Formats: sequence, structure tokens, C-alpha cells
Amino acid sequence: MSEIGVFEFKGKRYEFPVEIGTENEIAIEIKRLRGDTGGIITLDPGFKNTGSCKSEITFLNGEKGILRHRGYAIEDLAKKASFLEVAYLIIFGELPTQEQFAKFEADIKKNTLVNEEIKDILDGFPRAAHPMGVLSSLTSALTAFNPEYTDVHSEEEMYDAITKILGKFPVLAAWAHSKNEGAPLNYADNSLDYIENILMMMYKVPTTAYKGNPIVKKAMEQLLILHQDHEQNCSTSTVRLVGSSHASLFASISAGVSALWGPLHGGANQAVIEMLEEIIKGGGDVEKYIAKAKDKNDPFRLMGFGHRVYKNFDPRALLIKESADAVLADLGIADPTLEVAKHLEEVALNDPYFKERKLFPNVDFYSGIIYRALGIPVEMFTVMFAIGRLPGWIAQWKEMRMNNEPIGRPRQLYIGKTKRDYKTMSER
Ligand code: ACO
Repeated sequence: MSEIGVFEFKGKRYEFPVEIGTENEIAIEIKRLRGDTGGIITLDPGFKNTGSCKSEITFLNGEKGILRHRGYAIEDLAKKASFLEVAYLIIFGELPTQEQFAKFEADIKKNTLVNEEIKDILDGFPRAAHPMGVLSSLTSALTAFNPEYTDVHSEEEMYDAITKILGKFPVLAAWAHSKNEGAPLNYADNSLDYIENILMMMYKVPTTAYKGNPIVKKAMEQLLILHQDHEQNCSTSTVRLVGSSHASLFASISAGVSALWGPLHGGANQAVIEMLEEIIKGGGDVEKYIAKAKDKNDPFRLMGFGHRVYKNFDPRALLIKESADAVLADLGIADPTLEVAKHLEEVALNDPYFKERKLFPNVDFYSGIIYRALGIPVEMFTVMFAIGRLPGWIAQWKEMRMNNEPIGRPRQLYIGKTKRDYKTMSER
């Protein structure tokens, strides 16, 4: 017998089907709630209890600290696979064969040039513009330069749009960085792999031959794999919502970049480093910042702590912490922020405020320390996150379109003024 959810209101009983996921998650399906009850809706600010879709891409159990893509553990993928291999898995559902991988990589490489006129748009930005704003705008501009991909009707057209954005997005990201630095713009070198290309485009200068560092490349690849997908987070939900109106992939991803930018989401990696630097500047008084974070009259939050879904530990944070130690040792860097971060973590994890609320370090707590060790400037941290998250956004957008999901349009509970008569300005 299938399960049902029951809802009673004013003596009437309503029954709703219950759906059970492959990992035994349970959802009450309330599609008919409003119709059957004559207008009752659910109210769930921040969507803390609301599933917006069914998805086959990522399984996350926040209580147990589990993260799997298409059934594969994040720990295995981060340690054993390449960035594009994981991207293929997330987007298309299976790990690629050698042949499938070679075609996928070659198709992306065919798309590593962007229209030269994009440079005119870039020129229009002030040099100090935040690269996330620049990246969001340039990604949206891809729609204007590739109008044939604004509406895709077949899987083939979708594939072309996907390989296009995977090819061009890192170029736009690198150019956003070069603009900040006042440095010449680099083009991709298709003899390099995806990650090497990103680093090369960010750092190559015309006067010197570029020589990559394998330690930096390996660490960057692992970090970006860890960011690839995280089911229905703020930016991914944004991508799906924008795409649900059949806006183009490029426009949807541009909206995702904007959502990721905020300090409560991807922008936290920049905010963490700024917070750690402030603590060091103020003499390293970790306890003072813990007290500020606990003070309900102070808006300060411990950046890099807490997560909407993880209430035990963030498995990505564990891997990143391990990696931060290794990368700093490999590169021979002694970074005081790592020591402060570890101290802060230790104090917070033993403090009842953080324990009771199940607040643990999240993916952003240690990632900034690695980015900095790898030579990435602080304003680019969230851009690196966006490059990492791109395959996840694509996969989620594709799944939403392939499932013919309806346009996203939440309801609301109106709590404003009831009907009143207009008064002319002289009467007010
Ligand atoms: N510092 C201090 N207190 C915190 C923190 C924090 N970082 N995070 C949550 N709390 C407290 C809240 O004040 C609240 O306390 P209360 O119950 O006494 O009112 C309680 O913990 C629950 O917090 P919520 O805000 O309800 O949790 P929510 O799931 O809405 O927010 C979020 C999650 C936004 C990540 C939050 O923990 C936060 O702001 N963290 C800092 C920013 C950050 O690191 N963001 C990156 C997240 S990972 C990512 O997006 C890639």
C-alpha cells in the first residue's frame, strides 16, 4: 500500500500522495493542495522544507555528511577523477568512456574563442569592477553573440549550447581578472587541459613563457571538482527558476553567477579571508569574534560557518582542510590565516552556541586559504567557485528542461493593507 499524507483543516480531511526517493527521502506531494482545499497554500520562507523538483543528479544527506553525484562519493571523485570527467558525469549521468571523453573535451575546445566584440563590453567596465559582476554580464552577453542558442529544441542543440558555455566561461572569467589587473587578455591554448588553461589565461604575460605548476594545478582541480554541484542551493535554484521560463542557458547561468556572488552563498569564501585578516590585524583575538557571532544584537556572523543542509559536517570542508595543509606544505608557504582558521574552528566547535545550532565549517571556510596559496586574488575567489559550479548549473538546467518542468512561480501570503480609497496628493 502506498503511503499518504493527511491534512485536516476545519473538520475536513485531505489526503496527499507521498513520494519516496531512491535514498528513502520522503516528500508529501502537494500539487493539488490549493485546488482541493479551495485556496490553502504552504508558507516556507527560504524553502527550508520545500522540494522544488525531483532530481537524479546529486544526493546529499546533511545529517550524515554524505555527498554523492549520480551515486559516486565526492571523496572518490575529488581524489580520482578529472574536472571534465566529473562534469560529464554530472551533466550526462554516467562516467564517460575514453571515446566519449575525447569527443566532449574536443567539442569544448572548439568553443574556447569568444567574439572579439566582447572586449568592447569589457572595456566599458571600470577597472575596479568586481569580477563576479563582470562575469555575470559577459555570460549574459553570450546570448547576444550566439542568438541561435537562445532557445534550444533538441538534445543536439542543448549539447552545443553546453559545450559552448563550458568553452567560453573560463575565458570570460580570466578576462574579468585581467581587467582588474590591467593586464593583457589571453586566449585559450587548446594544447592544455581545462584546468591548466584557466590558470594559464589568468597568469600568462606576453613577455614571459608560461610555466604551470603541477601542485597548483592538482590542488585547483580538486577544489573545483568539490564545487561542481550541490543540488538545490541558492544559485542552482536560481538557474532552474530562470531557465523554467525557457530563458537561454547563458542567461540562466548569468543569473546563477549573480546569486552565487552574495556573501551568504559563494561570496563567503572572500568574506572568510577578509574576516581572518581582520582578526590577525586586531591581534588575533579569536574569542572576540566568537562573542560577536553569538551576540544577537550584532549582525556579524562567523563567515564560513553553518550550512542550510549540513548539520553534522560538510564533507567538502574536510577534504579542503586536508588539502589546505598539503598545498601550503608543498608550496612552502606559512600562512598565518590557516593557523587562525584552525584556532577559530577549534574554539567554535567546542562552544555550546555553535554545538547546539550544529554550525560547522562549510566549503568556504578553508577554500580561500588554498586559493590565496595558489596565487588567486581575493576578488577572484567567488569567480573560481563559479567556474567549479558551472557543470552543476548546466546539469540542473538540462534536467529541468528535459523533464519539461513548469515555469517556477511561487505563491505568497499577502499581509499588506486591505482595500482603501485613493487620496489626491493635496488630501494626504
Ligand atoms: N555565525 C553565527 N551564527 C550563525 C551562523 C554563523 N555563521 N550561521 C547560523 N547562525 C545561527 C543563526 O543566527 C540562527 O540562530 P538562532 O537559532 O539563535 O536564531 C541559527 O544559527 C540558524 O541559522 P539560520 O540562519 O536559520 O540558518 P540558515 O540555514 O538559514 O543559514 C547560512 C545558513 C546562510 C549558510 C548561515 O549559516 C550563514 O549565514 N553562514 C555564514 C555565511 C556562509 O558561510 N555562507 C556560505 C554557505 S556555503 C555556500 O553557500 C557555498
